[in-house]
Amino acid sequence: DYYAVIMAGGGGTRLWPLSRQARPKQMLHLGSDRTLFQQAVERLEGLFPPERILVVTARDQAPQLQEQVAYLLPENFLLEPLPRGTASVVGLAATVLARRNPHSVMAVLTADHVIQNIPHFQRLLRAAYKVAQEGYLVTLGVLPTYPATGYGYIQRGEPLGEQDGLPYYRVVRFKEKPDAATAQAMLEMGGFDWNSGMFIWRVDRILEEFERFMPELAVLLRQIGERWGEADGQALLEHLWPQIKPETIDYGIMERADRVAVLPAEELGWNDVGSWDSLFDVLSADAVGNLVLADETLILETRNSLLLSDQTKRLIATIGIEDLVIVDTSDVLLICKRSQAQKVREIVKILSQNG
Ligand code: GDD
Ligand code: MG
Repeated sequence: DYYAVIMAGGGGTRLWPLSRQARPKQMLHLGSDRTLFQQAVERLEGLFPPERILVVTARDQAPQLQEQVAYLLPENFLLEPLPRGTASVVGLAATVLARRNPHSVMAVLTADHVIQNIPHFQRLLRAAYKVAQEGYLVTLGVLPTYPATGYGYIQRGEPLGEQDGLPYYRVVRFKEKPDAATAQAMLEMGGFDWNSGMFIWRVDRILEEFERFMPELAVLLRQIGERWGEADGQALLEHLWPQIKPETIDYGIMERADRVAVLPAEELGWNDVGSWDSLFDVLSADAVGNLVLADETLILETRNSLLLSDQTKRLIATIGIEDLVIVDTSDVLLICKRSQAQKVREIVKILSQNG
């Protein structure tokens, strides 16, 4: 049996002021008529019937997500009372799926990425399922283009074989979010991929890894699993969840596990849209390099800039600017240099400290 598990609970502070607590990144449109969440579900069409698609999300986000894709089954939404990181997300989904079939394979997918080549995505997932069946923890590797510190790095080892014409390799080392010097060194050395953040593995295999590397979480998961589907199952989850120590699957499991494989996924057109600047990689700019996502603009001698307005009736007028990001919302106006757009996280941090 094959399942898809969509992790859709992140806040996404990097696209502030558009993404907020109340409207996380996966709910944004970003120039498309579909939200990122809708796109994440729709690219599974033909591969998974709705009953095989699970969504793990915060309790208060679920109604909105359900509304966006009406054919998802309400009982396939797994609700977290509060976010505890992707390790708990994967662990919960695996625990629930183990009750259906412990030998099933699950694809752990993200809700807030852009993938341009959907046929290739489906081809990769099909191949990954077969590799996972052999007992590997399968990652999808993306070609790194700069020494990013916000991604995981995967070192490719010997070739393990081919599946549906796609080669896959043993993973020698998985390093989550290295510092700048380490990232630079890995790029220079070569043979490293970025981790796309999507994983494919057998349910029983990943549960074994939880037992081995995250035993405290494994105990809680077992307790939840024993009562899952009974009248008090959700209540027990809500009672135990706050005891979970926040951790990601990358640090908690991937950095330590063996029998990890990577399928190179260069041609995916993958982008995690981690900053305003990355929108220029996923949308096509006009002849002078502007991305205009606003109804009313008057722009003179403006180049290589993003102009975005969100439900404001205001006109955006610019003269003689370049390489800027301008995001106008009803209560916040952001203006920053494109090259420093990733620093909006610092603003969000300051704002949350000040309440
Ligand atoms: N339900 C739920 N609950 N979802 C969560 C939670 C949580 O507590 N935390 C994160 N997510 C979801 C996010 O919405 C996103 O879809 C996905 O899990 C990944 O979380 P991020 O917080 O965006 O992770 P990251 O970008 O820092 O790092 C991961 O992705 C990179 C690629 O984009 C890692 O896997 C890196 O190794 C990888 O390179
Ligand atoms: Mg991310």
